[in-house]
Amino acid sequence: MSRPRVGVVGLNYWGPNLARNFDELAELAYVCDLSPELLERSAARYPDARATADYGELLADATLDAVVVATSVPTHYALAKQALLAGKHVFVEKPPATRAAEMDELVALAAERDLTLMPGHLLLYHPGVLKVKELVDAGELGDVLCVYGNRQNLGIIRSNENALWSLGVHDLSVILYLLGEEPSEVVAHGRDFLTPGVEDVVFCYLRFPSGKIAHMHLSWLDPHKMRKITVVGTEKMVCFDDMELERKVTIYEKAPWKRAESYGEWQTRSGDIHIPKIATDEPLKLECRHFLALVTGEGDRGKVADDGAMVVRALEKLQLSLDAAGAARP
Ligand SMILES: NC(=O)c1ccc[n+]([C@@H]2O[C@H](COP(=O)([O-])OP(=O)(O)OC[C@H]3O[C@@H](n4cnc5c(N)ncnc54)[C@H](O)[C@@H]3O)[C@@H](O)[C@H]2O)c1
Repeated sequence: MSRPRVGVVGLNYWGPNLARNFDELAELAYVCDLSPELLERSAARYPDARATADYGELLADATLDAVVVATSVPTHYALAKQALLAGKHVFVEKPPATRAAEMDELVALAAERDLTLMPGHLLLYHPGVLKVKELVDAGELGDVLCVYGNRQNLGIIRSNENALWSLGVHDLSVILYLLGEEPSEVVAHGRDFLTPGVEDVVFCYLRFPSGKIAHMHLSWLDPHKMRKITVVGTEKMVCFDDMELERKVTIYEKAPWKRAESYGEWQTRSGDIHIPKIATDEPLKLECRHFLALVTGEGDRGKVADDGAMVVRALEKLQLSLDAAGAARP
């Protein structure tokens, strides 16, 4: 299978970006959406792909290797499950399921059939995030103490997923990736100011077995557009800022410091600020490439699925805390 045959389902806002990449990197065999207008638009752009509103057609095609699900969140689990049952590799936009038990079912199905189940955790393919991970793993920051994410903007106001599931999924995937452990306690507070039951502003706190802590400020009611993750270490601190063009990653030689002659009092140390060069490769292209590599048998299929399950588990716990007005969840 040198050039896998791929079908993209869901062609509104995000799906076209996936279709563009898979058209370039693989054989885009199908474009699928329930909306005739969106189908028409994609059919015009990809005349060699079959355009259909019937997802079943993709599943019934034995020559189709993989399905890419970019529909609205509540439909992900069912569409991914049908595709796995039909023997297709699946790339599914984040989050693949809204319950941990459903995600476990998808992971088990994929493992049983030796199929790929890859959640669309785009930031894990961002060269800036990879740089931060490299710094953390190399011990450049010393011991990591805490991580916090800011994901705020005015809009897009969604009514079928809240700020935790829509925005927090990104930061959470990065925080868990950087720290390499699952939270032992989570707390989430938020409010549904615009759509009843759909929180627009959410604050999350996570504590990890190692004692590290993390925080996420998630909101689409905010004057600032922020896409930032900060990691505080005992030796250095680093900030990944996706709004920056040329300084995606900034490393601060700033740290707490105890001078031998200071009788145990804490002082601070402030040195150089360093901006490493970060490759400008499109993260989505790298993500699509990784999926295709897994489909063709390169790399660890189980890892992406398990990492995705860890994110859904944490999201579910945070949602339970949110529902219980901020009660801590183990
Ligand atoms: N990775 C990222 O950075 C990123 C960014 C934006 C959106 N997303 C994700 O991408 C997904 C899609 O986002 P969106 O904003 O385009 O969603 P959307 O709700 O605007 O569009 C979803 C499309 O799916 C179609 N659809 C739904 N059920 C279908 C079915 N059974 N068969 C065929 N078509 C069906 C709808 O007609 C619609 O056109 C979401 O999961 C979202 O979270 C990811």
